[in-house]
Amino acid sequence: MNFQKISRLRGEITVPGDKSISHRAVMFGALAKGRTGITGFLRGADCLSTISCFRQLGISIEEGADKIVVEGKGLHGLQAPADVLDTGNSGTTTRLISGILAGQKFTSVLNGDASIQKRPMKRIMTPLSQMGASIRSLNGNDCAPLEITGSPLRGISYLSPVASAQVKSAVLLAGLYADGETSVTEPAVSRNHTELMLKSFGADVRSEGLRAVIQPEPALYGMDILVPGDISSAAYFISAGALVPDAEILIRNVGINPTRDGILRAAKAMGADITLLNEKNTGEPVADLLIKSSTLHGITIGGDIIPTLIDELPVIAVMAAAAGGTTTIKDAAELKVKESDRIAVMTENLSAMGCDITATEDGMIIHGGKPLHGAVIDSHSDHRIAMSFAVAAMIADGETTIRDADCVRISYPGFYRDLEMLCVT
Ligand code: S3P
Repeated sequence: MNFQKISRLRGEITVPGDKSISHRAVMFGALAKGRTGITGFLRGADCLSTISCFRQLGISIEEGADKIVVEGKGLHGLQAPADVLDTGNSGTTTRLISGILAGQKFTSVLNGDASIQKRPMKRIMTPLSQMGASIRSLNGNDCAPLEITGSPLRGISYLSPVASAQVKSAVLLAGLYADGETSVTEPAVSRNHTELMLKSFGADVRSEGLRAVIQPEPALYGMDILVPGDISSAAYFISAGALVPDAEILIRNVGINPTRDGILRAAKAMGADITLLNEKNTGEPVADLLIKSSTLHGITIGGDIIPTLIDELPVIAVMAAAAGGTTTIKDAAELKVKESDRIAVMTENLSAMGCDITATEDGMIIHGGKPLHGAVIDSHSDHRIAMSFAVAAMIADGETTIRDADCVRISYPGFYRDLEMLCVT
């Protein structure tokens, strides 16, 4: 797909529902008794993988025009799947469902696409095995395909070496089936949607700083869930609004959970003009975001903020390329094990556009301010890379071509249409 430089952006958009929250709403709805109605569900390929896995586990899920209805069967109502569960490109589906399957009375096999078959699964295999689950990487490389045989589980206190909401959630979900309390302590706080949503379904779960604690065998009851707009999708418009010379964009109804709002803090620290309007709480905090063009400068991003903006670092790197001075991104080695190696792929592609960028072991050093020029960008079939370079293309001289641009279907099927809607020529 080809892109040109843009000088003006105007208008209002509503980004699709939060990916993390959409996955969880289907999963927890399936484990609850009764009906769960999900409004604002993200109909991206990843969340559709979660729906199809739970259908294979015997859950009826109806997809209406603006509502998904899950007929939950309770904690012990899942059925053995007849076939391999296909998690597609979705790390969240793969890791969270593993925690649930660890507590069932049957064996399941999980597999996904080529990217999923390279993503590290030892991080969930270790704690789930400690709880007593039988979980095996069928190729012996600690990646999917995974065979999980449900077993009686013990509650554990797990000290996680990584700040990962997927690891934390897998252990907490297995904890629903354990013989006692289960806790996870992380090196930094990761997104807390599992804790917030499980609690509203009726679970006894609490957060104590870096530690999340859950009690087993709760009675979960179906409920109505309103999914806020995904701040990770809004991030592309936040960046475009800051970077394009004459821009003013209103993004409506964006989730601003403090465990996810690092992009707002980092962009503001770089000089971005962002105003939060109409703040409210709909189970998760939400706000409208007003973004205006600004002049950005480089900053250092590292430490505890990293888990709160981990998925936004590719587009933050694009902002850094245009910002005056140096931006250092550190403590972000997790970027190497996302849908692609995002340190290598950002460095390769931003260099191709004329940016002075160096990859480091745990991040990137970007000497910003050099004008970018169009180039051929390889998205490596990573949705966040494709969307980040659609933003970079808006400020680059000449034409930019993004290969496999269609991979945005994973998290934001209408992305290019929404972007075009804001472009005023
Ligand atoms: C997610 C957690 C993060 C994030 C991913 C979604 C989740 O992954 O990168 O896009 O929904 O729990 P990690 O847990 O691997 O950091």
